[in-house]
Parts: sequence; C-alpha cells; structure tokens
Amino acid sequence: MLIINFKTYHESTGAAALRLAEHIDQVSANAPAEVLIAVQALDLEKIASIVKHVKVIAQHVDGVGYGAHTGHILPEELKKRGAVGTLINHSERPIPTEHLGKVIDMAQVHFPDYTIVCSPSYEETLLIDQNFDPRIIAFEPPELIGGDVSVSSAQPEIIKKVVDISPEQQILVGAGVKTLEDIKISLELGAIGILVASGVVKADDPAAVVREFLSAWE
Ligand code: G3P
Repeated sequence: MLIINFKTYHESTGAAALRLAEHIDQVSANAPAEVLIAVQALDLEKIASIVKHVKVIAQHVDGVGYGAHTGHILPEELKKRGAVGTLINHSERPIPTEHLGKVIDMAQVHFPDYTIVCSPSYEETLLIDQNFDPRIIAFEPPELIGGDVSVSSAQPEIIKKVVDISPEQQILVGAGVKTLEDIKISLELGAIGILVASGVVKADDPAAVVREFLSAWE
C-alpha cells in the first residue's frame, strides 16, 4: 500500500490538487500495490469524482455525528463525497489521547478498511495497538517528517520493533521517504506499505516518482 499525503502544500491544493491526483491516478492503473491519496477535505469530492485507480482518503476526521459540532468534519459526509478512509492523529493534526478511542471507533464504523491511525513513536504505537485495535497504524517519527533522511535509514531497528508489536497489526511507515531503496527497506522490515508526502508532492515529476516507488512491489 502506497499512501500519498497531499498535506496543504501549494502544489497539492485546489486546482493543483486535481492535476496532481490525475497524474498519480494515471500511473496507478494496474499498479502492483494499492495507491491511496490523502487529500484536503475541501478538495476531496472533486478529486474523488475524477480518479479511477487510486482510493481517496481524508487527512483527518472528527469523532462526532450530526448535531451541534461547529467546525468539525463528519465521517458520514466524507463518505458521501467519495472518501473510502481517513488518516487520524497525524502529528500535524494530533488528537488528544482521551478522545482518540472515540474517533477511531467512529471512523472504523464508516471506513472499516482504511482507518489509518498515525503514531509518532514506538510507545504510542504500543498504546494504540493495545487500547484501540485499529486496522492500520502508520508509524512516523515527527522529527524526520519533511526531511531528506528517511525513517528506514535512520530508525530501522524501531521499525522492526513496531512491526513486532503484534503479528496481526498492519503497520505503515513514513517520514522522509525519498527513494525506492527507502521503501524496499521498510517492506523488508515487515511494513505493509508507505506514507509519503514531500517526496512526491514537491518532486519535479510526481508521477514519475510514484511509478518508481511502485516498482518496490514488483
Ligand atoms: O503523512 C506523511 C508524512 O507526514 C511524511 O511526510 O514529507 O516526510 O514524506 P514526508
């Protein structure tokens, strides 16, 4: 599984997000791995209506239903607009631990296959695995996010430790992923896939990077 997080870069917002999604979609036809794009809530419906090969997920969701919840994002409404899943608890959009269980539970009702709970450390991954049982956890050390040193080269032993927490728990890894080698190492260590942002979004030719990254699964 390859997840490309659009974040809120200029290159992946509004009209640019649509173009980027189209390019990623084209190179994802017949891909050897699932390709997901995590897009901004405001861009989600348009993007979901044009892509054919990639799955569209949200970057965040709130653990509330219909009612008096000013400024919240409802899982039901994301789903109606074409989302098949969501990231939760990204280190750039953390959820207080006391609310995390409720958000995960609500998200998993609507997105049983693609509720992806981010975790910044081995300790928090352990806590999330033991208390909330999400289908997928994405381990991303915040200090490596957006940089050029990848989690697989800087912290291979921690990836292994995270993967070994439980044989049933599916683990994605991310932060600083820039090369095919970064991905191969993570897969060899037992991760089911990768979460990447700047390495694709900020590339001169994002589609070429995605095509190259996907060759890790061939
Ligand atoms: O969610 C992906 C992420 O935070 C990693 O970002 O730019 O290091 O690939 P980046």
